[in-house]
Amino acid sequence: MAESSSDLRPRRWWRSTTTRVLAGVATVAATATVLVAAPGADAAASTLGAAAAQSGRYFGTAIAAGRLGDSAYTTIAAREFNMVTPENEMKPDATEPNQNQFNFSSGDQVYNWAVSHGARVRGHTLAWHAQQPGWMQSMSGSNLRNAMINHIQKVMAHYQGKLAYWDVVNEAFNEDGSRRQSNLQSTGNDWIEVAFRTARAADPSVKLCYNDYNIDNWSYAKTQGVYRMVQDFKSRGVPIDCVGLQAHFTGGSSVPGNFQQTISSFAALGVDVALTEVDVTNANTSQYSALTQACMNVARCVGITVWGVRDSDSWRSSESPLLFDGGGNKKAAYNSVLNALNAGGTTATPTTTPTGPTTTTTTPTGPTTTTTTPGGGSCTATLSAGQSWGDRYNLNVSVSGSSSWTVTMNVPSPERISTTWNINATWPSSQVLVATPNGSGNNWGVTIMTNGNWTWPSVSCSAS
Ligand code: XIL
Repeated sequence: MAESSSDLRPRRWWRSTTTRVLAGVATVAATATVLVAAPGADAAASTLGAAAAQSGRYFGTAIAAGRLGDSAYTTIAAREFNMVTPENEMKPDATEPNQNQFNFSSGDQVYNWAVSHGARVRGHTLAWHAQQPGWMQSMSGSNLRNAMINHIQKVMAHYQGKLAYWDVVNEAFNEDGSRRQSNLQSTGNDWIEVAFRTARAADPSVKLCYNDYNIDNWSYAKTQGVYRMVQDFKSRGVPIDCVGLQAHFTGGSSVPGNFQQTISSFAALGVDVALTEVDVTNANTSQYSALTQACMNVARCVGITVWGVRDSDSWRSSESPLLFDGGGNKKAAYNSVLNALNAGGTTATPTTTPTGPTTTTTTPTGPTTTTTTPGGGSCTATLSAGQSWGDRYNLNVSVSGSSSWTVTMNVPSPERISTTWNINATWPSSQVLVATPNGSGNNWGVTIMTNGNWTWPSVSCSAS
């Protein structure tokens, strides 16, 4: 077996649209020449996560710990999604069943499953009027305020540095735009900002979100109420990084005509926006494509999460609102979402995390081309830069030579592979990817989470 390796220095390392964190890198490397295809020429991706990754977005799902033993469920979830929200496992009743006694077993189960399948995790949720443990429901006043603060501190300490987002406060508004009455609200109108300030101090690496339903229609009073709160927080320096629109278009509601205006209006306040719990009555295809398109059209709409995998997994299963039927088959709505993701749109430009790994960028090395020639056949895998964002980058891989190839990619820790497109992928670990052709040709790609390290992976190609 002959093996040769060469270090092909890239010429135009990062696109000019790259984040300011990488601006210095772009300047340094600007004199070299492009060796392989320009980035951004990805073929259509065949999974939701990969399709979303092409524009720097994620596509997620709610995952229930109780279903992780169902291989039909986990097969779809692992293949399609690169963001996971624990459906119930990180809620206050799950994490603090008795006061100051914490239980992270099911939350950790979902977290571990997600990261071992290359997905990031949205924490959901720290302070909420619903799904409180019994002891909290009967509390009030300063006891409850202190218990809320302690809950946020302890739960966030457990997941410190591990999560992409936390829904700090959930569903705190009435339909008329006023604050919802609850035991938390009764502790004082400042409870929400106290929750956010506590959260920032507990884990400065995670983006802090306010999450709610029925805030999709820009002219609706509740939307305006939440908007004014976020505007006020931004103007006073209360730490908030993102707004989640649950986007439950079930139970009688549907995607409003001004949905994109709502997303862009929140984004204009300087927060990321995400669609966090999407479902649509009978999975109406035009509504699914409209909501996807609305997100794709707004640079700070960073991702979409559907609230479950198959219709049978949905909290509103009688409305068959998800993208897979009970048998795990892709529904028509799946294709409308996939097509909208693949059609592209604005590249996502999330806000930078206040203090996180994105501020400690190092100069990347690579790309590496390695050819192996076992038994006379040969193939070459060449990496080229795709788009990059504050926390991750895409690489395009082009394989030449034999059409029957196996590419092994080793990503240096702490980086990890988040998603892939146009290949059959197996994952010996989250740092190692074994890729074979899936009929999409010889150009494929990966999204790599940097976790603070921008060194490119090494690849080897073996022909058979
Ligand atoms: C739902 C879960 O899907 C159900 O399993 C649970 O019984 C109730 O909560 N808004 C939210 C989610 O923020 O946490 C809710 O999830 C759905 C509405």
